Amino acid sequence: MIEVKIKSSEKKYPIFIENEAIADLREKIFSSINGRNYLVVISQKVEKLYGKILKIPKTNKFVLKDGEKEKTFKNYKKILEHALKLKLTRKSVIIAIGGGVAGDLAGFAASTYMRGIDFIQVPTTLLACVDSSVGGKTAIDTDFGKNLVGTFYQPKAVYINPKFLKTLDDKQFKSGLGEVVKYSFIEKSCQCEIDYNLTNFLTEKFSEILSRDEKTLAKLIEICINLKKSVVEKDEKENNLRQILNFGHTYAHAIEKITNYKKYTHGEAVIEGIKFAFNLALKKNLIDKNYKFFADDVIKKFNFKQICQYKLDKIAKIMLMDKKSDGKEITFILPSDYSVVKFLNITPDEIIACQ
Ligand code: GLY
Repeated sequence: MIEVKIKSSEKKYPIFIENEAIADLREKIFSSINGRNYLVVISQKVEKLYGKILKIPKTNKFVLKDGEKEKTFKNYKKILEHALKLKLTRKSVIIAIGGGVAGDLAGFAASTYMRGIDFIQVPTTLLACVDSSVGGKTAIDTDFGKNLVGTFYQPKAVYINPKFLKTLDDKQFKSGLGEVVKYSFIEKSCQCEIDYNLTNFLTEKFSEILSRDEKTLAKLIEICINLKKSVVEKDEKENNLRQILNFGHTYAHAIEKITNYKKYTHGEAVIEGIKFAFNLALKKNLIDKNYKFFADDVIKKFNFKQICQYKLDKIAKIMLMDKKSDGKEITFILPSDYSVVKFLNITPDEIIACQ
């Protein structure tokens, strides 16, 4: 078993990574809550596939339909009402089993129910394992935008089991890989004590990763979690360093908005954002051609879906509306050396010139 300990201003919590039988994972979680009252928020897909093994009693279970559109105030309210009906107290626990939507929603409910009760996370998608399960962001979406209401709230523990990833559909698995590839290009800027050389790991192990070899996935998740740990422990509330985790995301968010969050997965959009960042960095002489070709080769290994070319003036307009922009320039995270990134203010004209 791999254990990564995360330190936050509030508490220390463990992330366990283990390839064990799902029934054993269930026993472990239930013995850790030691007879306390609980509510499990579980994604519908996971319930369908693993419900018989997880054996969560109906009364203690809130089954959440799949998809980002479920991260609503309505579902948040329903979860709280379910918890109240179950008579959960300040000593009770909320457990999320599913992807980022289940984790964000259940985490937000746990952080506000009776001013905060224990929260356990069991991420079952690659994206949730490498991203949302670390760093304590919880949120719901609103009609005005995504993740606009939320808290920083650290879980009591996170249990990761790569076995869940075996049944993940290919689209969702690739979406997680988009974030994994992102970590490889920001690794040195994460200031982690250990040099993992993730670009190398991805190049050498791409076929084991794509065939979802459990051991390789456990190692890959451990690396990504340690890189994110290094960042969030230095900047828990995203004042500066944590922003590097948004590498590729400015462009990705614009594509997601244009396509109404329907056409591409988050990871596919992030990969396109990374490619755009490399083009822009080359244009601005921040990197040389060799690094750009190297990055292209790493990305190519994973056969991401090709994305349509959207008009860059349209993309720039959306970027300028971003809450992180001052309306004149866009702060971009750009590669500046092998696995190193830096912040640079870019004008819409410079973006359009990349067409
Ligand atoms: N997903 C970016 C962050 O956790 O800060």
